[in-house]
Amino acid sequence: MVQPMTSHLLTLVLFIFLFHIHSLATAATYNVATLGAKGDGLSDSTKPFLSAWASACGSVQPATIYVPPGRYLLGKAVFSGPCRNNAINIRIDGTLIAPSDFRVIGNGANWIVFVHVSGVSIHGGTLDAQGTGLWACKASGKNCPIGATTLQFSNSDQILVSGLTSLNSQMFHIVINGCTNVTVHGAKVLAPTDSPNTDGIHVSKSSGVTILNSKIGTGDDCISISPGTTHLWIENIACGPGHGISIGSLGKEFQEDGVQNVTVSKVTFTNTDNGVRIKTWAKSSNAFVRGVLYQNATMVNVKNPIIIDQNYCPDHKNCPSQASGVKISDVTYQDIHGSSATELAIKFDCSTKYPCSGLILEDINLTYGDKAAEASCVNANGIASGLIKPTSCFNRG
Ligand SMILES: *[C@@H]1O[C@H](CO)[C@@H](O)[C@H](O)[C@H]1NC(C)=O
Ligand SMILES: *[C@@H]1O[C@H](CO)[C@@H](O)[C@H](O)[C@H]1NC(C)=O
Ligand SMILES: *[C@@H]1O[C@H](CO)[C@@H](O)[C@H](O)[C@H]1NC(C)=O
Ligand SMILES: *[C@@H]1O[C@H](CO)[C@@H](O)[C@H](O)[C@H]1NC(C)=O
Repeated sequence: MVQPMTSHLLTLVLFIFLFHIHSLATAATYNVATLGAKGDGLSDSTKPFLSAWASACGSVQPATIYVPPGRYLLGKAVFSGPCRNNAINIRIDGTLIAPSDFRVIGNGANWIVFVHVSGVSIHGGTLDAQGTGLWACKASGKNCPIGATTLQFSNSDQILVSGLTSLNSQMFHIVINGCTNVTVHGAKVLAPTDSPNTDGIHVSKSSGVTILNSKIGTGDDCISISPGTTHLWIENIACGPGHGISIGSLGKEFQEDGVQNVTVSKVTFTNTDNGVRIKTWAKSSNAFVRGVLYQNATMVNVKNPIIIDQNYCPDHKNCPSQASGVKISDVTYQDIHGSSATELAIKFDCSTKYPCSGLILEDINLTYGDKAAEASCVNANGIASGLIKPTSCFNRG
């Protein structure tokens, strides 16, 4: 038996030892203000941010980058890896703002971008891309830059984005491209309803992406899902205004990756153009969509609450009058309720060449004012169970 006194002493020694190890492991913190960034909203802080990144990325130990309160003007910033450690924590208490001249970032594809990184987490922060000027330029019909994505992760893994706010992006707010194991939670995404192409979160060529507990109101899709996306989980989202949650557009190219295993759960759509949408070009392609579960969605005054549109051909230009080659199968709609802003609450317009198969409707209650809502099916095969309002229009199982 060890004496109580000795045991306390041992505990203390052990504590000091562990604390020492711990502080070694978290030793590296780079404060952008210390490196010269000024939170005055006027001084270009791009260099201090990049030098904080260079140090954090070059550190053999886990590293933290700290952004204190204030408004930091940031030009295009590329944070590239691979890094010497796989635990970089970026804590942002301030707001990063893009230059007021939209051309500065607008001619590049993105504003803040992480490439080839592993184990990066971002906590907090507001990103304000100041997109208003570019949208006005586009609306005037002048020759304008396409615009930049606000925050992009490319070819990266083990990414966490927590409690981030994105305001007024020029183009997409957040893009996850070619990544695995990415979690976005507690995001707030905001742009006006008439801001062009301001998709909230865009996922492409990525696997194991999780989007949770977020509020997205914007001028285009709240979440858009592109070719090569698998094992995507979306839960507890408030979407609106915006164009809803879209898989697509798919099948623009003949040779294209499919979308597989997508779950969309507990989403409220408010005054959106679409609720849950799958959209494909009307041309030949070897792409597919399979294994999608839409669960527990509430529609509030949504124009197209449930829609599959395989005849997408914007302005009827450059689309040969062909059937879509995208094969859609095993899509389940479960517990979807609320109000449609149009009579047609369910629209399945599938490919004449590859009819949709394995569609399942379960417990659907969509209303249209005090009139009956309607459902329409073209080349749509599936089964319905439970209460289905409007009445299902499937051909067969
Ligand atoms: C996913 O990434 C998180 C960090 O964001 C990490 O803690 C977790 O272990 C990763 N999971 C896998 C399966 O790699
Ligand atoms: C589907 O994706 C989820 C993550 O979103 C994952 O947990 C699940 O195992 C995947 N299912 C299949 C059959 O791959
Ligand atoms: C459906 O979502 C609502 C909130 O959006 C929640 O209160 C309810 O428990 C959910 N139901 C199921 C079956 O998950
Ligand atoms: C369907 O929704 C309407 C409007 O919310 C509601 O009045 C009605 O009770 C619901 N029907 C069922 C069977 O839940």
